Amino acid sequence: MAILVSGGAGYIGSVTVHQLIAAGQEVVVLDTLEKGHAAALPPGVKLYQGSTGDAALVMRILSENRVDAAIHFAAYIEVNESVKDPQKYLANNIVNGIAFLDALVKAGVGRIVFSSSAAVYGMPKRMPIPEDAPKQPINPYGLTKHIFEGVLASYYAAYGLSSVSLRYFNAAGALPDGSLGEDHDPESHLIPLVIRAAMGKRRSISVFGTDYPTPDGTCVRDYIHVLGLADAHIRALAYLERHPGAHAFNVGTGKGLSVKEIIGAVKRVTRKDFAVEQAPRRPGDPPELVADPGNIGRELGWTPAHSRIDDIVASAWKWHSTHPDGFGG
Ligand SMILES: NC(=O)c1ccc[n+]([C@@H]2O[C@H](COP(=O)([O-])OP(=O)(O)OC[C@H]3O[C@@H](n4cnc5c(N)ncnc54)[C@H](O)[C@@H]3O)[C@@H](O)[C@H]2O)c1
Repeated sequence: MAILVSGGAGYIGSVTVHQLIAAGQEVVVLDTLEKGHAAALPPGVKLYQGSTGDAALVMRILSENRVDAAIHFAAYIEVNESVKDPQKYLANNIVNGIAFLDALVKAGVGRIVFSSSAAVYGMPKRMPIPEDAPKQPINPYGLTKHIFEGVLASYYAAYGLSSVSLRYFNAAGALPDGSLGEDHDPESHLIPLVIRAAMGKRRSISVFGTDYPTPDGTCVRDYIHVLGLADAHIRALAYLERHPGAHAFNVGTGKGLSVKEIIGAVKRVTRKDFAVEQAPRRPGDPPELVADPGNIGRELGWTPAHSRIDDIVASAWKWHSTHPDGFGG
């Protein structure tokens, strides 16, 4: 039986596909390649280029392959763009996503793992954040993730489609051999941006806000190695075989690192120096986002492997320094 992976040519999707293949699993990928890269897929993986919103295509994929589960990464991911153009995000992340679910239900596929986000929590008051914290997203991107979790809950209740929503905190890192990593355009994630400064591809790195109520005044986030994330998906698929329902788990380390600590780690690991500039706060950046990962540990037996910050940065450095133009090079 095969697993259908939407958005499987993107950053987290391609690493997960790589790990599924390494575990001997048959995988079929659906990706528009608008943001993803065919070159990120292991040789021999069947790639259908197209959208989750193309019901006829998804039905064809399901009739041509024996699919018994899906992982749904496909989405737009830029918070700032979602504020400027919410329609684009609602249409892709929700409307296209629902078309994808409808095809799965029609074809009798019973399990799905969904890429949710810490963005569902908005500006949480309690740290670390438990799954039952209030869901008050502060941008359309986070709203799409929150709504889609609700859609999945109703699809389980009405149609029996079981799901795990994984609320990722900050995905980071690359395969340890540097063969596969992050290539977003535009890039908005901190670690690849700092690494670009270390490579001399940026003049400096800006720190947005140095007066937050955090130990060193800069924003604190929970960085999780992409391999640990991939493992969470594989465990979630197995969990659904024994636990029907609509579940949601945080995926994070439970430990926060500040922007300054990340910059320090990049300088330490790469042994490169570069300019750091202070800039004003950006609207909508919560001071601190750290997961309480207790539930995923207890229920899925998951631990955040590879997520020591020096290991994350070393793997990302290996990827970026050997692929200075990402998959285009
Ligand atoms: N990167 C993070 O730190 C992070 C954090 C929280 C949640 N997430 C979520 O994880 C998922 C993957 O993130 P990523 O960083 O790998 O992003 P990405 O942009 O690298 O991957 C998304 C992939 O989906 C594809 N895609 C988009 N819309 C599509 C559609 N309608 N049909 C088919 N393919 C489509 C894109 O071409 C791309 O390959 C997203 O759902 C994102 O919201 C990511």
